[in-house]
Amino acid sequence: MSFSNKTIIVTGAGGGMGKATVELLLKENANVVGCDLHIDSLVAFEDQSQFLSFEGNLLNENNVKDIFEKTVQTFGQIDGLVNIAGVAQSATPIEEISLDEWHKIMDMNMTMTFLTCREAAIYMKKRQQGAIVNIGSVSTTRPRPGLQAYVGSKGAVESFTKALALELSPDHIKVNVLHPGPADTEMLGQFTKQGENVNDTKKAVFESSVPLGKLLQPTDIAQSIKFLLSDEANMITGSVLHVDGGRSI
Ligand SMILES: NC(=O)c1ccc[n+]([C@@H]2O[C@H](COP(=O)([O-])OP(=O)(O)OC[C@H]3O[C@@H](n4cnc5c(N)ncnc54)[C@H](O)[C@@H]3O)[C@@H](O)[C@H]2O)c1
Repeated sequence: MSFSNKTIIVTGAGGGMGKATVELLLKENANVVGCDLHIDSLVAFEDQSQFLSFEGNLLNENNVKDIFEKTVQTFGQIDGLVNIAGVAQSATPIEEISLDEWHKIMDMNMTMTFLTCREAAIYMKKRQQGAIVNIGSVSTTRPRPGLQAYVGSKGAVESFTKALALELSPDHIKVNVLHPGPADTEMLGQFTKQGENVNDTKKAVFESSVPLGKLLQPTDIAQSIKFLLSDEANMITGSVLHVDGGRSI
């Protein structure tokens, strides 16, 4: 797998899976553009000429346009987009979810994915090639109570991915969705109910639900993202890849 001369935009780059993906793609000699609301965790990469970072809200259309424009100005082209940015939902009964909270979760997980994919399509169609990987969640097939907005938003990401894969296949652009299982990042603790002990829940609820017996590591997800972006996956589009230690069975 060679990523030399390839340029990949990674959203959510400052978080657990995002940072691991940036690190792996840089090791593979890709040019990487890392975008996040907070980029403090990415300072270690800042001195590398193959790395560019953007701090800002990806729900802002102008920020998204700016990122794609600056990427092309700097690296000349865009070969891949990985949508990792997203938010969790604290387990809450549906009658306690406000409309604002509902919109926030749908926007952060689905609308943000729409905005970056729309921009990627403009650039990738011009070159008649490209690969997009959207991150969903195993909860789309194995939901947990109280996560209705989160699960709904990630189900939308899966359907959107399939629709876009079909739409963009005449332009040789691959679009796939990867559903992670419970992963050992900051976000996992945010799915717990208010007042629950995060570490106890991580072990008793999440870890014990994975048939392979352990939480996913961000690097497990990064390796599979790398595969979906690679030329080895050239005939894979509209697919759902479960990287979940068997949780979706
Ligand atoms: N951790 C898990 O157990 C798990 C399981 C299944 C799916 N996922 C999904 O995997 C993805 C990554 O999760 P993670 O565990 O690395 O989470 P994380 O919280 O460590 O990272 C998410 C990143 O997204 C960024 N982000 C959120 N909203 C943004 C916005 N509007 N603009 C720019 N950046 C924004 C955050 O700042 C954060 O750095 C998410 O989409 C999540 O829903 C996570």
